[in-house]
Order: sequence, then structure tokens, then C-alpha cells
Amino acid sequence: MALTFDHPEAPSYLGDDVIAEISRDPGFGSYFTDHMAVADWNQQTGWHGDRLVDYAPVAMEPAGAVYHYAQSIFEGLKAYRHADGSVWLFRPDANAARFERSAFRLALPQLPAEDFITSVRQLVALDQRWVPGGVEQSLYLRPFMMASENFLGVRPAQSVIYVVIASPVGAYFTSGVAPVDIWVSTQYSRVATGGTGAAKCGGNYAASLLPQELAYEQGCSQVLFVDAAERRWVEELGGMNFFMITADDQLVTPDLNGNILPGVTRDSLLTVAPELGLRPVERPIELAEVLRGIEDGGVRELFACGTAAVITPIRSLKHEGRQYVIDVDKATHTIPLREHLLDIQYGRTPDTRGWMQQVC
Ligand code: COI
Repeated sequence: MALTFDHPEAPSYLGDDVIAEISRDPGFGSYFTDHMAVADWNQQTGWHGDRLVDYAPVAMEPAGAVYHYAQSIFEGLKAYRHADGSVWLFRPDANAARFERSAFRLALPQLPAEDFITSVRQLVALDQRWVPGGVEQSLYLRPFMMASENFLGVRPAQSVIYVVIASPVGAYFTSGVAPVDIWVSTQYSRVATGGTGAAKCGGNYAASLLPQELAYEQGCSQVLFVDAAERRWVEELGGMNFFMITADDQLVTPDLNGNILPGVTRDSLLTVAPELGLRPVERPIELAEVLRGIEDGGVRELFACGTAAVITPIRSLKHEGRQYVIDVDKATHTIPLREHLLDIQYGRTPDTRGWMQQVC
């Protein structure tokens, strides 16, 4: 039976003044709304206990399996406030489908897409006052699932908890859309073939943190990972997909070879590319090709993309002591692509593909 995530009888709310104060400068992922959606799963009963409750600590014993073996997955999507005050989700079905695939890879139970979407819609509707209306602001939604069984043996957990929390956000990077410098990690890998690269699981992000610190030491704000086997093929950043735009107007990104997260923003950009005069191409990209292209002008623009930051232009790649710098003043496509996607998400341009779903 479908889950309903019904509204609580006595919801508790923070005052409008507190929300207004937070919305003035929410940053990214620091504030959380009044409520959260929760559901439980166990082997005997399947999914049950779906509810909306006050935002509060999730009680789990120290033996909870997720603490030990990281059996957990998550998603990230946003609710946008349009100029008429209405609130919309962008492609929640794509996040729901990826959540099912991630669950499969992490040996977690699959939450039907319909229930995933209901949980998100119900939480957004209940906490709709928290959807900020400022420039580039939105309500970031973080559904996640984790092994909650108290058991230290290594096997898939027999009880699991699913939670959705919501956070009013502005720009992901404090620098906004300013082009960033990226450090290419050849010492550390994010994932290996046959691993969990295509799943959205915490472990992939944990593996990217030490290289990210090394990137900071190099004066860079993010890491670009290459493949673990040959250290030759570009994969993705710590938490974002990688794109390059060539001199002959190709929009190129690594193909989904199992090591790459199938980003919803990635897919959306490939889809709208022809509307901006770009030919979308998914294929293996050699690091040497990118570095050579920056030098000889064959590569005109580089950027990273994801739900959180949308598109972040890349100014340079640092690799083996050299810095390869793009002439970002000559970039003509990155910002229009970004604006086009934002226009769809904020309802400023017609949504011809049925990507937007109204919540309230
Ligand atoms: C996104 O851009 O959606 C990401 O995955 C980054 C997020 C983990 C903060």
C-alpha cells in the first residue's frame, strides 16, 4: 500500500520572523525546517510507520549498523518559489529513480518512487513557509536511508530508516558563480570500477574529503578525480559532474561508465544543450586532451554541475605542478546554460518537458 506521510495533528512552527531572518542569508545546509518525514522498514513488515514529525535527533543505538559499515544512501533536490508564490519541484521522479538504483547497489530496500515523491511533497507542503523567495534561493531537500539494525555482523541490515529533511539555501559556494580553480588528484581516487561510483552514498563523499583538503592546500576549491586504473580518464569532482565546451560547440561530459554519478543537472544540461547551440556528447574524456585543449584553444570552457551549485565555471586545472588556465572572459556558453536551467526551475521560461511539479 502506498505511503501517505500524513501531516501531524499538532505541527509546531518557528515564527515567521525567525524564518525571515534565516532567509536573509541562509548559506547552504546550515538551517533546517520545523519538520521531517520518516518511514521505517524491516524484513517482516516492509515499509511502514510513515509520518511527518518535528525535526529532531534520530534515536539509534551505538550498535546501529550504519555507524559501522556506512550502509546508507542519500538524494538532493530543491523546491523553488515562483514569482506568483507557488512552490515547485524539479524532476523529483529522476531523484526517486536514482534513489532506487542507489538502494540496490548498497543492498538497501528500495523505496517505491511514488512513496519517495509523496514524502518530499508532503514535507514541502507542510513547511512551505520555509521556501525562500530570494534570488537563487530554494529549499534543499535531503532524503536519506540508512541501516538502523543493532547488529555488528557484516551483512545487509534487516531494519532501515528513511528520513527527509529540508534546508533553506542560497548559493552553495560563498563566492557565488565566480570561476573556481580545481586541483587534479592523481594520488587518490574517488571510486574504482565495479565500486559504488554511480550510487549516491556517503562513502563516495567521505573518500573525496582528504583529496579536497589537499586541493585547499593548493589554493583550489575542489578536486577533479581521474579513473583509478589508468589515472588517465576524467571522472568527476568530489560532488559534481564535469563538463567541457569545445571550440566547435560540443558540450562534452564523461559517459556513465559506472564510476560517474548520473546527475540530474548533468542530464538536464545535456537535454537543453541544443536550445543553446551546443551539441551534447557523452564519451570518455582523456585528461591529456583537456589540458592540451586549454592550451591550444580547442577547449573553450569548463564547468562543474550539480543540484546544489547548479553550474560553477572552472577557471583553471592544477596538475603536477602546472596550472592550465581558461580565458573565462571569453566564455560564452556557461552562464547562458546556467541561466536557462534556472529560468526553467524558477518558472521564468516555459517548461516544455514536464520537468516541474507544483506542490502548492
Ligand atoms: C549536488 O550538487 O547536488 C551535490 O551532490 C552536492 C551535495 C552533496 C551538497
